Amino acid sequence: MQLADLPISGPWGERHLLGLERLTAAQLNTVLDLAAHYDQVTNGGTERLSVLKGLVVANLFFENSTRTRTSFSLAARRLGADTVDFTASSSSLSKGETFIDTALTIEAMGIDLVVCRHRTPGAPHLLARHLKAGVLNAGDGTHEHPTQGLLDIYTIRKHCGKIAGLTVALVGDIRHSRVARSNIHGLVKLGARVIVCGPSTLVPNEIRQLGVDVAWSLDDILPEVDCVNLLRVQFERQRGAFFPSIAEYANLFGMNGERIKKAKSNLLVLAPGPINRGVELTPDVADGPHSVILNQVSNGLLIRMAALSLLAREHQEKQDAA
Ligand code: NCD
Repeated sequence: MQLADLPISGPWGERHLLGLERLTAAQLNTVLDLAAHYDQVTNGGTERLSVLKGLVVANLFFENSTRTRTSFSLAARRLGADTVDFTASSSSLSKGETFIDTALTIEAMGIDLVVCRHRTPGAPHLLARHLKAGVLNAGDGTHEHPTQGLLDIYTIRKHCGKIAGLTVALVGDIRHSRVARSNIHGLVKLGARVIVCGPSTLVPNEIRQLGVDVAWSLDDILPEVDCVNLLRVQFERQRGAFFPSIAEYANLFGMNGERIKKAKSNLLVLAPGPINRGVELTPDVADGPHSVILNQVSNGLLIRMAALSLLAREHQEKQDAA
């Protein structure tokens, strides 16, 4: 299958995927539907397609990553692209080269798409302004992580059959979580009710402006929730102590076997990972029947295949028009 033959269900028109904030519900559905198409076509297999044959995808990771980097690399290769992996510690950045010069150098090697993770919010946006290549944000500081938001939403849609009308709780470190922000933008646009829940120090007041409800007690909201997404406490982004102890956090906001009995019998438990067993959730929940954590990882590959394809198509159309 070629790029031009892909079944695109709705509007797209974006050269970059920098966040879910500025996408419409129709654009979000276009990505989700294309991921569903890849789900059908690949059927869990590892067969290589030729949709991105001849294109080069560069992974520029300036912050640690296991699943996102691997997932983007695999997604690109499944579609027949060549990939270049770049990590900050092994690059000329450590010799003093600037972020933009590094990116321009990489682009001069003929790269079509750039996947960028950076601890500074807005770093991928800066790249998008300087490069001709399409840019995908793989997490920028506390700002957004659009493909994680999309894969969480895809997983919910696949298991629940819909998004509109569901109640989804995002639990934990809302203040520092880019995953929370991308989930909120996507879920709210697609018609879900979103409740954010965590220690008051980790739930900023302004978050209500994004159209969510705020709750301080997980036990109070659990009976009305269809899906719960357990976010990791982002210790590496925190300056100061936001709660007295990890044990107290786990006791109030961790999902465990006792707590899950208070929830709907078909509650869906998600976590973007990496998970801290015993903090955000106990092993019996992480490995139990409600958990879709590993499905999220598999779905991440499909979402990244869809996102790469849509941007590559846009990139190609621009080149053809030039
Ligand atoms: C998330 C991230 O990096 O923001 N992880 C991921 O992409 N799989 C969430 C996290 O680190 O807690």
